[in-house]
Amino acid sequence: MKNNNIILVGFMGVGKGTLARELTKALDMMVIDTDDLIESMENRKVKEIFATEGEDYFRGLENRVGTWVSKNVTNTIVSTGGGFPMFVKDLEKMGTVVLLDSSFNGIYQRILNSPNAEKKLKKRPLFKDTEKAKELYEKRLKTYRKRADLIISVENRDLKDVVKDFKKEFK
Ligand code: S3P
Repeated sequence: MKNNNIILVGFMGVGKGTLARELTKALDMMVIDTDDLIESMENRKVKEIFATEGEDYFRGLENRVGTWVSKNVTNTIVSTGGGFPMFVKDLEKMGTVVLLDSSFNGIYQRILNSPNAEKKLKKRPLFKDTEKAKELYEKRLKTYRKRADLIISVENRDLKDVVKDFKKEFK
């Protein structure tokens, strides 16, 4: 049987972290972030891990985190990195997988409209080039949808409305 974690997946910049922080209050659950766990394990930023060790090494760490969550974590919102559903074998064992769905344009506009847009783009090695990021988005979409238990649209929606959807499903 699945445990009761909620696993938020979706493309870079779609708002997984922001939503996770709202949900921890609304659903009275703990929250963790796979990138934060990896940065703690390595004592360095994701950007540095990519630059020094390469992407495969980072994906190995994501898999370790996925296995650890599936075996040790309950009653928790887990915010994941955008590549997580593409590379982590234990995703489904971690909990109910919820895809935050948006078009690429919606995501890009969300980043540009944020007060720290430059920082958001800089910390993401795979968002350096917008055209390449768009290609990556298109390549990933099918797998995102296939691995999700539930798909929730976040495009042009208030955070409050999205939280209401989660309350309906999980409370
Ligand atoms: C990645 C997304 C990032 C981070 C890393 C790789 C990806 O997380 O895990 O830079 O492959 O899409 P966010 O989705 O939080 O940006």
